[in-house]
Amino acid sequence: MALLSVRGLGVRYGNDVHALEGVDLDLDAGERLAIIGESGSGKSTLARAIAGLLPPAAKVEGSISWPELGRAAQNGRDIGFVFQDPASSLDPVMTVGDQVAEVAHVNLDMAWPAARRLAVELLDRVKLPEPQATAKAYPHQLSGGQKQRVAIAAAIVAGPRLLIADEATSALDTIVQAEIVSLIRGLADEDGMALLFVSHDIALAANLADTIAVFRHGRLVETGAAEPLIAAPASHYTRALLDAYLGLDA
Ligand SMILES: Nc1ncnc2c1ncn2[C@@H]1O[C@H](COP(=O)(O)OP(=O)(O)OP(=O)(O)O)[C@@H](O)[C@H]1O
Ligand SMILES: [Mg+2]
Repeated sequence: MALLSVRGLGVRYGNDVHALEGVDLDLDAGERLAIIGESGSGKSTLARAIAGLLPPAAKVEGSISWPELGRAAQNGRDIGFVFQDPASSLDPVMTVGDQVAEVAHVNLDMAWPAARRLAVELLDRVKLPEPQATAKAYPHQLSGGQKQRVAIAAAIVAGPRLLIADEATSALDTIVQAEIVSLIRGLADEDGMALLFVSHDIALAANLADTIAVFRHGRLVETGAAEPLIAAPASHYTRALLDAYLGLDA
């Protein structure tokens, strides 16, 4: 039984912007799916639709269901979401420990002392040095990579079944990017969490994912196991996307 089942999903922001059209997609428990496609192809719209984070003005058709849960998934509980820019997803005037603790307090109804202890454990889990001391730091005292680790800690507070990372490593330099990807991969393995990983970086996506889904103009172009899809894509569009990517990389 699939964890997530998306059927005929369409999203429009205005009358003429079809950000997504007719998208069918399944995700199994523990499966790692990478979403690739050019800018504006609807990747973030898909990620947000799944997490229930679309702006109120968005018009949605089709269905997003969670067969394995048997109910709608809740962002912050069943789903953890990591955004591109850790600086803007964190509150500048609250210590990072309290920001992680607040998620446990609000989403899990945990009393503050227990929430604070859990926050320190999570900061340790995302491999921040000296988690006790780091918990008392403010975001501006941390590097970009460290801030993204805090954002990941906040996303996994409730032990979600699915972690969505939308360009979560794009703002970081290459070495830090690799560290964060390996952290995300390790956490997913340990907890059996499914991953939905959105990235411009096809090599990174191929490396991390079991399955790749290619989007163009809001439509799913093709989907399949990562390695064969990269080695021999079925669609001309994917071929062109790979060629452009390899060209850029050279
Ligand atoms: N809040 C919004 N209001 C209006 N249009 C939007 C909104 N968000 C996205 N769009 C439009 O929907 C389409 C899909 O955008 P989306 O952000 O999902 O693409 P993306 O694949 O994530 O692109 P990128 O790689 O640049 O992040 C684009 O045409 C975009 O301009
Ligand atoms: Mg995007």
